[in-house]
Amino acid sequence: EKVVLAYSGGVDTSVCIPYLKNEFGVKEVITLAVDLGQGDELGPVKQKALDSGAVESLVIDVQESFVKDYAFPAIQANALYENRYPLATALARPLIAKTLVEVAEKYGADAIAHGCTGKGNDQVRFDVSIGALNPKIKILAPAREWGMSREETIAYGEKFGIASPVKKSSPYSLDKNLLGIAIEAGPLEDPWTEPLEEVYAMTKPIAETPNEPEYIEIGFDTGVPISLNGETMNGVQLIGKLNEIAGNHGVGRLDMIENRLVGIKSREIYESPAMIVLINAHRDLESLTLTADVTRYKRGIEETYSQLVYNGLWYSPLKAALDAFIEQTQERVSGVVRVKLFKGNATIVGRKSSNSLYSHDLATYGSEDVFDHKAAEGFIYVWGLPTRVWSEKMRG
Ligand code: ARG
Ligand code: SIN
Repeated sequence: EKVVLAYSGGVDTSVCIPYLKNEFGVKEVITLAVDLGQGDELGPVKQKALDSGAVESLVIDVQESFVKDYAFPAIQANALYENRYPLATALARPLIAKTLVEVAEKYGADAIAHGCTGKGNDQVRFDVSIGALNPKIKILAPAREWGMSREETIAYGEKFGIASPVKKSSPYSLDKNLLGIAIEAGPLEDPWTEPLEEVYAMTKPIAETPNEPEYIEIGFDTGVPISLNGETMNGVQLIGKLNEIAGNHGVGRLDMIENRLVGIKSREIYESPAMIVLINAHRDLESLTLTADVTRYKRGIEETYSQLVYNGLWYSPLKAALDAFIEQTQERVSGVVRVKLFKGNATIVGRKSSNSLYSHDLATYGSEDVFDHKAAEGFIYVWGLPTRVWSEKMRG
């Protein structure tokens, strides 16, 4: 048997290599590390897989696609799970799954393996996505079955020459990519305990942020961010740069209790500076360029979309149908949004668009006013009619 393993270089996925060979009778383990802009050195990761017993160790850079095909559609959808979490981890999983399936098909592998536990969302996202892309491929999830504690996992690895983690003392579980970091476990498991400053990596504490606000301008074309401060740049660059700029002002931290698909409530810390700024800016530009009814209807679509993505249904017919709706709405969402970054806040302070539906002459209280005030009377007569009829009936 030949297996392609989703590989991160961490202890758990490293231990999966000897475990698959010894306990599952797998002959060849090919590892795949996907570069999602996590900023880790992937050279050592590649070697580590070989040292742990992989026959082949692949590293594939998918950052361009991650931004273009996953992050940008999520921005167009204003996708925030439970109104807050910009889905950095959830968006990465379907792309990792797609890359795993491509590699498995290319190498003629019988199965795909991953190191997710049985308590999380990630196992669902991998399994459902792989099944959607190639229902014939078998899925192995050793960590879902082995029932080893962290200490036992490390000990098992050491038996097979896998070095125990350098920072054995770090109690946190991290998942990071270009779109953000998710931090869980350790002291964070007490929802009453404030996260220590040490958990944050992308954002400065407010005490250390600049004492002057910084203004930035984000340009959008059909709902997709295309420029920063007037400079056109590709998506990977733009998100990378915006992470730095916004993170420097302490923007992008979240501390929340979220509902996992498997029924567990978990305490999550997130850092997602660029995504939070971009979604806020995008939503604001929509308020200028979309009609009221489209905007309101889209809110419901957005919530369903966010849940689908969180719950592992990226490659599903409902998701595809929602994509079509969202794409249609983005046709005229082009323009520039001005954002003020200061002490942890990203405040939208200006927006403009050649597709703007805002009419100064209709809105103004000044002398240029063109709104027909008299027409309001007849409108209100009709609008309030059902309420008056109801009220008369109630009074008897
Ligand atoms: N709870 C978040 C999510 O479901 C983050 C998960 C982080 N994953 C991880 N393997 N540490 O999207
Ligand atoms: C895991 O258990 O694999 C991480 C947490 C999650 O997937 O939600």
